[in-house]
Amino acid sequence: MKLVEPDREVEASAGDCLVEFVDAGVQVHAPSGYTLLDAARMAGVAMPHVCLGNCACLSCCVEVVFGRGFLSAMDQPERDRLNTAPGLPTHARLACQALVRPGRVVVRRLRDPIREW
Ligand code: FES
Repeated sequence: MKLVEPDREVEASAGDCLVEFVDAGVQVHAPSGYTLLDAARMAGVAMPHVCLGNCACLSCCVEVVFGRGFLSAMDQPERDRLNTAPGLPTHARLACQALVRPGRVVVRRLRDPIREW
């Protein structure tokens, strides 16, 4: 497992979230308030974001394997967007919309469901 420290001057703090991209075998300490997409970018984990994080596509979709309680609540626009893709895992989130809180989150990147169907 590769552990990536954020590219910033301060060390990881107790307020960070340890985000694991289980399919990539990478963990990163992300500051609270960062999105899962931010965490992926910090860690160098490839994650498409076709709409540039505007909740208008599904390319950044992930399955939350562990730690849903350490993510921000899903808002209606995200819920509406996810509902356009039937068959997603129950705990799917848009990485560009889910903000991390102090704790530990494990996610698995999903392939863009629109392109698969
Ligand atoms: S990048 Fe398009 S919804 Fe997240």
